[in-house]
Amino acid sequence: MCGIVAYTGPKKAYPILIKGLQRLEYRGYDSAGVALLNGDIRVYKRKGKVSELEDFAKDKNLSGSVGIGHTRWATHGKPDNINAHPHQSGDGNIVLVHNGIIENYAVLKEALSENGHTFKSETDTEVLVHLIEEIQNQYNNLPLEEVVRVALTKVIGAYAIVVIDKKDPDKIIAARRQSPLVIGIGEDEYYIASDATPIVEHTKHVVYLGDGEIASVEPKKELQIKTIDENETQIPAIQELDMKIEQLEKGGYDYFMLKEIHEQPKSIADCMRGRISAEDGWVLLGGVEEQAKKFAEAERIIIASCGTSWHAGLIAEYLIEDLARLPVEVEYASELRYRNPIITDKDIVLAISQSGETADTLAALQIAKEKGALIYGIVNAVGSSIARMTDAGSYIHAGPEIGVASTKAFTGQVTLLTLMALSLAKKRGTITDEYFQKLLVEIEKIPGKVEQVMKLNEQIEYIAGEIQHANNALYLGRGYNFPIALEGALKLKEISYIHAEGYPAAEMKHGPIALIDENMPVVVICTNKSAYEKIISNVQEVKARKGMVIAIVTEGDKEIKKIADYTIEIPDTEEPLTPLLSVIPLQLLSYHIAVMRECNVDQPRNLAKSVTVE
Ligand code: M6R
Repeated sequence: MCGIVAYTGPKKAYPILIKGLQRLEYRGYDSAGVALLNGDIRVYKRKGKVSELEDFAKDKNLSGSVGIGHTRWATHGKPDNINAHPHQSGDGNIVLVHNGIIENYAVLKEALSENGHTFKSETDTEVLVHLIEEIQNQYNNLPLEEVVRVALTKVIGAYAIVVIDKKDPDKIIAARRQSPLVIGIGEDEYYIASDATPIVEHTKHVVYLGDGEIASVEPKKELQIKTIDENETQIPAIQELDMKIEQLEKGGYDYFMLKEIHEQPKSIADCMRGRISAEDGWVLLGGVEEQAKKFAEAERIIIASCGTSWHAGLIAEYLIEDLARLPVEVEYASELRYRNPIITDKDIVLAISQSGETADTLAALQIAKEKGALIYGIVNAVGSSIARMTDAGSYIHAGPEIGVASTKAFTGQVTLLTLMALSLAKKRGTITDEYFQKLLVEIEKIPGKVEQVMKLNEQIEYIAGEIQHANNALYLGRGYNFPIALEGALKLKEISYIHAEGYPAAEMKHGPIALIDENMPVVVICTNKSAYEKIISNVQEVKARKGMVIAIVTEGDKEIKKIADYTIEIPDTEEPLTPLLSVIPLQLLSYHIAVMRECNVDQPRNLAKSVTVE
């Protein structure tokens, strides 16, 4: 969602801001803007892409070594030039960009209007900058950081903001509650951004601003951090970024999504590195070991996540219940947070999240924490809010994922959850030594097998061409592959805008079968060993109604080949590991269809990579 970037130091701010905004494009947005301070303040903003902002600004005055920039994902007010950020105070001196939602903006707006403030936009953000101006006028001579802090004590909602003031020209104030902000510390200069991607090419030294904290940065001066509510000084914890610029480039691929699909043999191997040895017969997750007592006493695991991460959670339910015989409940974080759930200190709540910033997942975790459960994060983005708020956790080490459609993060999550299920199964004595060893051997082969699946790309591209004009598609799977049906359908709809539904194959006859005709492509994942005969019957049922069947089968399959229109053969593996292979053709299928339909694969309409508002 919205992206923030800011700079103060000796360099020209504009190129840093524009490059930073381009780095943040992946988060999803519909307008962009910058404000530059050099004696006066100039604000340039445009509906549309960062390139449109650049075009608009190219013959304007772009001087200034202090500036703030923003990509806006519209919440309050349509995407247009007026609602785009930055927003200015009535006197034009204070400028602000914001990510989040000010929930009490209507009440504040009314009070400010009564005091003579007038507003140009429909946004909640403009209310905040007027509130800051109002506080500044009330308390003469208060430093900017204190003015902003006092204003924020009157605000209800989620926010990450950066603020500049013409009267205090080198300083930038940054504050956050629930939305992330990272401060990069360079040589006599500071960078601020929603995540580290705009910062990494300038400095590796960063401070992740804590929730409810406000920072003041000024070149050649120490970084100052306080808490917003208590006004207590905090000592900045400087961390080293473990991110490379190449990870943020397309590296010769047309799209980040394609690059990320192809990175999976490596990202899965990276996820397993140091955590498993089939040769020595062990699997070990640091976070689980750290909390061994809690895991030993746990009566239940609750998983809270959203979207693709929720699908990974569903696979975990199969894995952990099947292998470790521990009850698992999988919840949409957005539902869990509002439904007065029963959670006790005997529960472990797992949060699965690529970004580590999903607002609903964070809120669900907060509830679980208050109820005394151990909260455990399975996260990709290092240093993210979820990673920092959990009691323990495991990073999936997939590297930055830029394409909005999650691919390598999903297989990383499933890999990690498989390791967790195996580790718990071993500790709980619910798995035989032979089967444990067999799964260790097999999971170590997964990166190589994923590599093999990549070789099916041409065949998958051909099938994509055959179904690219469909208006609807159905995805069916059973057992471990039911969540893969959901994931395949989500991938298709989010990047190609084809309506798709995922269903447990046997549920088809309870409704969706009515949709099947010769225009309906039905993707069936048929690699299951346990329910193979049943899946054949499901495929027959589709064929009997003239549906076009695209079947993902195990290499050497004979039966389904006879009846399906297309079969995609993936390598054989143990049943609990099949999701790691069966999802790959579905990622490629949706990618090719989206390219053929000329969709913006990496930045699909309306979507955001980090969903930082509820
Ligand atoms: O960062 P998270 O994993 O918490 O994000 C959750 C969902 O927003 C995310 O998986 C979304 O569904 C993706 N666009 C799916 O490709």
